Amino acid sequence: MKVRVLLLGCGNVGRGLCSLFSGKGKELAERYGVDLSLTGAATRTHGCAVDPDGLDPRDVLSGRAFSTRPSRVSTMDLVETSGYDVLAECTVTNPETGEPALSHIRTALERGKSVTTSNKGPIALRFHELRALAKARGARLLYEGTVMAGTPLFSAAHPGFLGAEIASFEGVLNGTCNYMIERMKTGTTFDAALSEAQAKGYAEAEPGTDLGGWDTALKALILAQSFLDFPPMSLRDVDVEGVYGLTPDTLVEAASRGGTVRLVAAGERPCAGSGIRPRISVRPKFLPADHPLANLPDTANGIVFSSDATGPVSFMGAGAGGPQTAFAVLRDIIDIATGMKAGRK
Ligand code: HSE
Repeated sequence: MKVRVLLLGCGNVGRGLCSLFSGKGKELAERYGVDLSLTGAATRTHGCAVDPDGLDPRDVLSGRAFSTRPSRVSTMDLVETSGYDVLAECTVTNPETGEPALSHIRTALERGKSVTTSNKGPIALRFHELRALAKARGARLLYEGTVMAGTPLFSAAHPGFLGAEIASFEGVLNGTCNYMIERMKTGTTFDAALSEAQAKGYAEAEPGTDLGGWDTALKALILAQSFLDFPPMSLRDVDVEGVYGLTPDTLVEAASRGGTVRLVAAGERPCAGSGIRPRISVRPKFLPADHPLANLPDTANGIVFSSDATGPVSFMGAGAGGPQTAFAVLRDIIDIATGMKAGRK
């Protein structure tokens, strides 16, 4: 069965997705019986390319597709009018408004198209609206690539906790901050650790988003609304403190107390009927050495859930990174495609 994919954004994630389509396309068709076809692609720099018969992902990677299969329409026109089954929204996150990704996703869902996105803004800021729209239009909205992208989290935890009520989470969700903390533990200064994180491509284009705790806050908003049934929320509902105050000395001192410091996001399920608006916190926190989040190496991420039916359950693994996030988007596309094949939307 052919499943047509429209890709928006050809940065690290979009390019990673093209590489996966190119390298794994045949294997996926054999394994899942779905032929994933890239029928459109849009970039900030090259414009749009369209081919109803499918673009060669290698041509999207090289840029050739944009000269041989150019489309004069805007990205939004492509979302509104072109033929596709799944929108893969991989543009850069706008933490304040979620735009233009929010409009792309809204428009696709209004057309009844399923969506996967790695873009945190729209999911964090408009979670309930988009989920309701998807439901109303019989479409699916998946976002595995938004939080702990290199670790299947939503796809494992949503079905995994069926019948349980998740009561709270604590998470280390920003690879850049974790990397810098690990480096500062060995005496590297804050500025040198940041330069290393930037050179390795971990930090956001604007590193203040990572260091100020805002990237973690967006991820925590997604987790709280997705797992804890928080009402619609905004960044104003998060008490955010970043890592600017951390130094190698802070970490030496934490080690002398038998632990370490991490940038921890925490949320608790709101008490029904309390009338108190729930809040989330993001702040550097001392963790004893035996805490499940204390020993995350390098850029690793981790989360610990508590539920009414289980003890603490931890997920650890890779956070974001181009190839990892691309895999999360591919996972969602296969999930949607195999659902379509089985007759579900
Ligand atoms: N800059 C982010 C991090 C990656 O370091 O985790 C995207 O979420």
